[in-house]
Amino acid sequence: MAVLVTGGAGYIGSHTVLSLLMRGDEVVVLDNLSNASRESLRRVEQLTGKTATFIEGDILDRAVLQAVFAQHPIQSVIHFAGLKAVGESTRKPLEYYQNNVTGTLVLLEEMRAAGVKQFIFSSSATVYGANAPVPYVETTEIGGTTSPYGTSKLMVELILRDYAAADADFSAIALRYFNPVGAHDSGEIGEDPNGIPNNLLPYIAQVAVGRLPALGIFGDDYPTQDGTGVRDYIHVMDLAEGHLKALDKLPAIQGYKAYNLGAGEGYSVLEMLKAFELASGKPVPYEIKPRRAGDLAAFWADASLAEKELNWRVSRGLSEMMADTWRWQQKNPQGFAQ
Ligand code: NAD
Ligand code: WQD
Repeated sequence: MAVLVTGGAGYIGSHTVLSLLMRGDEVVVLDNLSNASRESLRRVEQLTGKTATFIEGDILDRAVLQAVFAQHPIQSVIHFAGLKAVGESTRKPLEYYQNNVTGTLVLLEEMRAAGVKQFIFSSSATVYGANAPVPYVETTEIGGTTSPYGTSKLMVELILRDYAAADADFSAIALRYFNPVGAHDSGEIGEDPNGIPNNLLPYIAQVAVGRLPALGIFGDDYPTQDGTGVRDYIHVMDLAEGHLKALDKLPAIQGYKAYNLGAGEGYSVLEMLKAFELASGKPVPYEIKPRRAGDLAAFWADASLAEKELNWRVSRGLSEMMADTWRWQQKNPQGFAQ
């Protein structure tokens, strides 16, 4: 039996495909390469000595999905494919709802037609909205999202809840990621954002490698330890391993369940910057800028449910996140582009 990994050529997808292949799972990847390079999976194959079947195609394309389910013995789907830039989603809401919500609906319909009933979804801490108490815990009602991106994740979670309630054979796990960072420790695969990075760690790494002049820190007057924003950063390989644990749990799940995947502790922007400088030996110049619209002061996960029910917790700390980010960036200053 095989796992279908949508978006498997992307950042989190490629690390998860690597983990799946390493343990011997059969993997089929469907990715339209809108935000990824074919090179990521070539490197995964070099690292593992194993091959994932790659299909270049779109989750909105029913014919492609029908062919995938007809030609491969798919038992479960890990669904990473989607658009993920919060700022862009406010400018292109229809594209975000089309890819993230309609795309998931088409995928679920074609799964149903093919009799595939096990589903893992890439959700996000953003579904807790702006007013949830910190640390975020799964018993808090989701909602109050502040961007089309966040609302698209919320909508898919509600769709999964309702579908699972209607079909006793369908089971779904929504994994609510906190802030994924880092890279595989080989430095061969990692995060390769298009254009100027939106997220903190890729930005810091590109300053360190000389692609950008200085980090702008978005606000130093938040009610946090040093005034800068606090987040729960999670190493991408810990996150990848969380998907394997969730996959193993799916047959025992009745209906729909959501789990936070985070470290359970928060670090400030300045703490991240200092940790990166320590790991890389590179000074990272910065300047304080105004707050970024829509940013929250501080949030992190209560990660105890995943520990209790999935037998999963993070095993990599800040120094590994930084060392692995730096190794990837140094080896690949232009990302996957040669
Ligand atoms: P990514 O952009 O690297 O990966 C997404 C992949 O999906 C890309 O390879 C892209 O080419 C593909 N894709 C996009 N639309 C598609 C479509 N319509 N059909 C087929 N393929 C399509 O992003 P990532 O960081 O690896 O994120 C993976 C998932 O996790 C996304 O759903 C994202 O919203 C979610 N997530 C990411 C973060 C984060 O900070 N990186 C946090 C929480 C949740
Ligand atoms: C982290 C901290 C910034 C860049 C986003 C999405 C979220 C999830 C992960 C998908 C904040 C500060 C950042 C910079 C800075 N994605 N910062 N200068 O905003 O927590 O989360 O990505 O689901 O939904 O919203 O992550 O890495 O952008 O920011 O000072 O150049 O770093 O203000 O405090 P964020 P981030």
